[in-house]
Parts: sequence; C-alpha cells; structure tokens
Amino acid sequence: MRTLVHLSDLHFGKVDDKLLAPLRDLVHKINPDVVVVSGDLTQRAKSEEFEQARAWLDTLPGPQIIVPGNHDISLYNVFRRFLQPLTRYKRYITDDLDPIFVDEEIAVLGVNTARSLTFKDGRVNEEQVSVIRQQLSGLPPEIVRIIVTHHPFDLPVTNDEDDLVDRAPMAMRAFAECGVDVLLSGHMHTSHAGNTSERYQMSEYAALVVQAGTATSTRGRGEVNSFNVVRVEPERVEVDRYGWDEVGKAFSKMKTEPFLRRGNVWSAHTDGLFAAGI
Ligand SMILES: [Fe+2]
Ligand SMILES: [Fe+2]
Repeated sequence: MRTLVHLSDLHFGKVDDKLLAPLRDLVHKINPDVVVVSGDLTQRAKSEEFEQARAWLDTLPGPQIIVPGNHDISLYNVFRRFLQPLTRYKRYITDDLDPIFVDEEIAVLGVNTARSLTFKDGRVNEEQVSVIRQQLSGLPPEIVRIIVTHHPFDLPVTNDEDDLVDRAPMAMRAFAECGVDVLLSGHMHTSHAGNTSERYQMSEYAALVVQAGTATSTRGRGEVNSFNVVRVEPERVEVDRYGWDEVGKAFSKMKTEPFLRRGNVWSAHTDGLFAAGI
C-alpha cells in the first residue's frame, strides 16, 4: 500500500497562519510516501508569496509532486503574465512542469493546467497528453496510475461545467487507453470524491476523481480547511478527508470513502457492494 497526502490551494499571501504548524506536524505523523500539492500555492504570484510557500514546503517530507494553479500566474503584470507566466513558480517551487514519481506500486504524474490566456480556466493540450502516454508506457499493469492537476476533470453534476479543465474529453480518452486510475485536483476549495462514469460514460472505464479543499487559505467557500490522505492499493483506494477543528485547534479525520476497482472501473464501495449496482 502507498499513502499520499493530497494538499491543494495553499494560497500563501492569504493563509491562515495558525494552520501551518499543525498541518506540517500531522503530515509528518501520517508519514506519506508522496506529498501532492495540486496548485494555487500563492494568492497573487508574488515573489514573497512564493518564498513563503517554498519555505513551508521545505518543512514537509518528500518526495513532493507539485503543479501550479491559476493563481500562480501573475494576473496584473501583463508582461509577466504573457511572456514569463511561470518564471517565479519555476524559480521558487520547481522548474519541472511534468513531475513524475514512480515506484513498484504507484506512478504519480503532475500536469500543468494553468494558462496565461484565461483568467481562471484550465486547459490540457495534446502535447501534454502525449507526454503522459510516454511516461506511462511500459509500466507494469499493476502499478496504480495517478494524475495530478490543479483544474478538475470531473465534478458533481451540480457544478458549473466551466470549472472543468478544457479539452478534458480528449484527455479522458487517452487516460482510458493508458489505464489512468486516479485524478487528483483542487481549484474549487471544496472536497469531493467520486468517479467519472456519469459525465463521460465510457465503456469499461471510469477513473476515481478526488478533489481537495483548500488546506490553508482563508477563502474556504463554506467548507473548513481540509486535505486528503489517499491510501492506494492495486484494487482499492481509500480517501480520508481531514478538516480543521476550530475548537480543538487541530486537523482531524472527518470522513473515509473507500473505492474499489473492477476491471478499469473505479466505484464507491458501500456495504460490501459496488455503488454502481452490482
Ligand atoms: Fe485556489
Ligand atoms: Fe485555482
């Protein structure tokens, strides 16, 4: 089994400072195999915000798979936005925009969906999908394949479709061919876990989608600060959601959602039966 800590939307520049030390200590206690950060490390892509993010990330265990979010591209400086959109991200966080971690049980791939041309929408392109194909080709079939993006590929149907990453259907077709199992993302500042069967209706394929809320931002959109712990086995994934308890001044486990794989279809596991109706 492998354990991932999935953090998102840190938003340095607008963080609730009291959360940083307890979160750091808890992540060490969980002792994950990989720490994932699914974008929006800063509020306004300022150097000092990236410096603070870097300093805090340095206190967390590794390896770390990090991707940028729309807030990590300068919004107000037009020169930076269009000519050097991710210069600061690359300087302070990582210059690797296709980060990958692979061991005998999991492959975790980071994909940048942040773009200069849109205010907050995300996009994935064919070149990135072909990099994913290359990175996953040749891996043994039993390795669980996990993709990390800032913008989500799927959300509950009650959400606005505009929040999904552009060209998601094109990417999903490739994900089905590559046997991608789990999609980790953020951006919404709300938590969610489910599968892609309803939106994409692909035969014999449904990925598990896991949204993390904001771990440390003061803009919670009605939810407390939260993060996920994802425990991964070849046929089973468990998603633990940890939320901030203002009374106890600590993150505590609020919910556990198990998912099972049957063929290439991941479904919620309830009472020993597949939620899909099997
Ligand atoms: Fe965000
Ligand atoms: Fe975002």
